[in-house]
Parts: sequence; structure tokens; C-alpha cells
Amino acid sequence: MSIISVKEVYKRYQLGRENFVHALRGATMQVEKGEMLAIMGPSGSGKSTVMHLMGCLDRPDRGEVWLADRRVDTLPHGELTGIRGKEVGFIFQGFNLIPTLTAVENVALAAEYAGASRGKARERAEDVLKEVSLADRMGHKPGELSGGQQQRVAIARALINEPSVVLGDEPTGDLDTESSREIIGLMKSINERQGTTFVLVTHNPEIGDACHRTVLMLDGAVSEG
Ligand SMILES: Nc1ncnc2c1ncn2[C@@H]1O[C@H](COP(=O)(O)OP(=O)(O)OP(=O)(O)O)[C@@H](O)[C@H]1O
Ligand SMILES: [Mg+2]
Repeated sequence: MSIISVKEVYKRYQLGRENFVHALRGATMQVEKGEMLAIMGPSGSGKSTVMHLMGCLDRPDRGEVWLADRRVDTLPHGELTGIRGKEVGFIFQGFNLIPTLTAVENVALAAEYAGASRGKARERAEDVLKEVSLADRMGHKPGELSGGQQQRVAIARALINEPSVVLGDEPTGDLDTESSREIIGLMKSINERQGTTFVLVTHNPEIGDACHRTVLMLDGAVSEG
């Protein structure tokens, strides 16, 4: 079963009065449940744009976006926000943690946003941080953690609401080779243990190697995969 289906999507950005950038020109791709998929391709080929559509962060100008059996590109804004919070987890290149909160507070906050009580959110955050081997760093703030550890916290945050899919835009882009390998290994083991679907936009060939499949984008469309 496809957990995400993007059908013939177009997206353009307006720069000047008559000046448009065509970020997507008829891109089509499917993500299967339980799969780890890499999206690769040159800078500007539309990778982040297509990932934003998958994550309900934005809508296409034309075409369709489906999450499992639900068409999402036509849903009103409020419903999209709800789906995003519960069904999709995000990991970013720059980690995007709140610097004044500890690791466990950063992770728990995502569960509170999704409606969990403060106590339950904290309990669950501690469990997920143990799963990413950060049991001994829960009380540290992001500035007191290495890049690899910060990305582990971000992965824990992405997983806390048990999303059906985790979307990562250059998740190893700010990491050195060793931390990058650790993070790839962690995502792979989560995928194998829990069946979480991962879609990873990347320039890192090691992510491509670790994934089940790679889709190659070129000029706003899929050229291979
Ligand atoms: N908010 C925006 N406003 C205007 N143009 C944009 C915007 N976002 C993206 N674009 C343009 O759309 C095209 C596709 O951008 P996108 O970010 O999807 O590429 P990408 O494949 O993720 O590239 P990179 O590998 O550099 O991250 C690019 O030409 C980019 O400049
Ligand atoms: Mg990008």
C-alpha cells in the first residue's frame, strides 16, 4: 500500500510581477508503507518543495497529494495542521531544537502540542530518548550536546507521536562523517524495528545506499526511480 502518493504535481513561486520559478513540473512518486526512500538530485530540482507537499506544509498549484487513502491537498488549513501534527514527523538539517529547553522538554513539547497531558508527554519523551540512546543526556540543553546528539533529540521528537511517516530534509547535512553514519544507522534500525516509513531528501550518497530505493529528481520532475 502507498502511504504517500504525489500525482503530477506542479508548483511555481512568484518572484516578480511576471517572473516565476517553476519548482515542480509534473512530479509523480509513491512511497510504500515501511519503506526507506531517498530523494536525490541537483540543487534546485524541487526536492524540498515536494517534501513540503508530502508533509502538508504547502499545497501544489496542480496535481494531487494523498496520505494513505486520504487526499490532503484539497483539505482546509486547519485539517492539514492536525494531520501534520499526528501523522508526520519532521527532521531538519539544522535540528531546529528550542535552545532554552532541555532535550526531554524539547521532545515532550511535541506530544503536548498533539494533545497529551504534561505528565504523559514527559513519560513518553523519556522512553523515546532511551530508544535513541540518550538516556544520560535528557537534562541537557541543545547547546550542551554534539550535533549528532542534537539530531538524535530531533529524531526522538519526530517519533514521539508515532507518526506513520518521518520526513527528513538533509538530516545529515550539518554532521561530520562519523555522526552522519550514526544517524543513518539509527534511522535504519528504527525503520527495521518499528516499521516507520522514512523519506529522506539528501545529497549524501551514504543515505542513498542505506535506503531501500532512491528517486532522482531533475528540473521539478522525477527522472528515475
Ligand atoms: N519560497 C520560495 N520562493 C521562491 N522560489 C523558491 C522558494 N522555494 C524554492 N524556490 C525555488 O524553487 C526551486 C526548487 O527549490 P527546492 O528548494 O525544492 O530545491 P531542492 O532540490 O531542495 O534544492 P537544494 O538541494 O539546494 O536544497 C529552486 O529554483 C528554488 O530557488
Ligand atoms: Mg532542498
